Amino acid sequence: MMDLLTPDKTHDESRQGEAMMLEQTAEKHNGRKLYIESYGCAMNFSDSEIVASILLDKGFETTKDYNNADVVFINTCSIRENAEQRVRNRLKEFTVAKVKNPGMIVGVLGCMAERLKAKFLEEEKLVDVVVGPDAYRDLPNLIDQVDDGQKAVNVLLSREETYADINPVRLNTNGINAFVSIMRGCDNMCSFCVVPFTRGRERSRDPQSIIKECTDLYNQGYREVTLLGQNVDSYKWKPEATEAAEISINDITGVNFAQLLEMVALINPDLRVRFSTSHPKDITDEVLHAIAKYENICNYIHLPVQSGNSRVLDLMNRTYDREWYMERVEAIRRIIPGCAISTDMIAGFCTETEEEHQETLSMMDFVQYDYAYMFMYSERPGTLAAKRYTDDIPETVKNRRLNEIVNKQRAHSHLRLQEQVGKVQRVLIEGFSKKSNLDYCGRSNNNAMVVFPVSESYKPGQYVNVFIDRCTTATLIGKVI
Ligand code: SAH
Ligand code: SF4
Ligand code: F3S
Repeated sequence: MMDLLTPDKTHDESRQGEAMMLEQTAEKHNGRKLYIESYGCAMNFSDSEIVASILLDKGFETTKDYNNADVVFINTCSIRENAEQRVRNRLKEFTVAKVKNPGMIVGVLGCMAERLKAKFLEEEKLVDVVVGPDAYRDLPNLIDQVDDGQKAVNVLLSREETYADINPVRLNTNGINAFVSIMRGCDNMCSFCVVPFTRGRERSRDPQSIIKECTDLYNQGYREVTLLGQNVDSYKWKPEATEAAEISINDITGVNFAQLLEMVALINPDLRVRFSTSHPKDITDEVLHAIAKYENICNYIHLPVQSGNSRVLDLMNRTYDREWYMERVEAIRRIIPGCAISTDMIAGFCTETEEEHQETLSMMDFVQYDYAYMFMYSERPGTLAAKRYTDDIPETVKNRRLNEIVNKQRAHSHLRLQEQVGKVQRVLIEGFSKKSNLDYCGRSNNNAMVVFPVSESYKPGQYVNVFIDRCTTATLIGKVI
């Protein structure tokens, strides 16, 4: 808020001051090596690219080997207890490296940093810096503090920060697919979920900066962008009063997600557009019609159901019920025939009965999901569910219910792939297949992985039509026609 209201002149002056400081600090950090590893959702991977951009601007270089790094960052996830456990184990390995190389700075970024705050420094003595998801612009200062012999923490959450002006440095890229954050935070207090606490309030990023980032990616040869947000359907950008006056020439009064999708789709028909995550309570017919209208908006929707039972959904505070979810699935089938749908599911939420679990299985039969991410409920400290309900489903029961869900999904995924056998799919080539350099792999419009023989007449980044002649449980196999 404050930034937007700052008069332009002072803004320019402070920019100049900033530029001078930038040169000085750039020299100081020149050649220092940054290693960064990411856990959790796509948002975290995307944030690491922002972090890299901020530090490369200050003279850092990236390295792929943490043993020879000056700064080692781990961008962490708190979504389930085992996600945090993985991070702690990895941190042990980093701190072993730090004992050999005491000059090494070890930092914890992301959701666990936000959740545990300064406590992290007490729990993990060899951690030097703890930085939450909205404080990455402060990283150079925080590193300076550590250089001066202190520990450093910044876990302030923001209502405005979208890093809109930062040009992410693409890490581990194949040069073809890229993530683009369109919003941050989440305002939907699902009772099981820690994200609203670790990522703060929902805010949407300025659409012009999104279009610019996607256009730049296209010009650099990228052919697919995935627009990211915890709840993309509630994307809503409204210019601030002062800004609105300036941009009224473009007649922008506000942009919703359907409109943003169209704007990105219009950049170039050869740029595929994907997005994640859609919330069942918010996905509109307008969005579905936008997907149907543009060939390059992929026919694939990640629409997490969590549970198939209305009472459990109510306890989860998902704000839709079984019937609502089924109606949204029917709308997808009607408006975008053949659209792939995937989901997230939680087995063994507080007080879930056997019958209620059966309703999750019957929901799966109704939708026949193409793909699913399936989890056992893991109580997270501070969430509504942790405060209000008892985590009363025994581990063995959770595990058995999860297995039933997983087995059913395996059958459905296979069925969905089998439906493609004998058909032709338009595939964006991403590179060599994992198993062999004699095969290329890429995804169909529906997000299925397709493998086919390499040929000199086409290369990664190009589209090819592949005739699917068979499938495994996870992959379509075919030939270019
Ligand atoms: N914003 C997305 C989900 C982000 S978290 C949405 O609303 O759908 C990704 C998934 O992790 C969730 O969909 C949920 O299935 C799972 N999850 C979140 N908190 C969990 C918990 N405490 N225990 C188990 N799974 C959880
Ligand atoms: Fe968590 Fe719900 Fe927000 Fe998704 S919508 S991030 S599950 S609170
Ligand atoms: Fe994990 Fe944070 Fe994403 S908790 S799932 S990294 S928003």
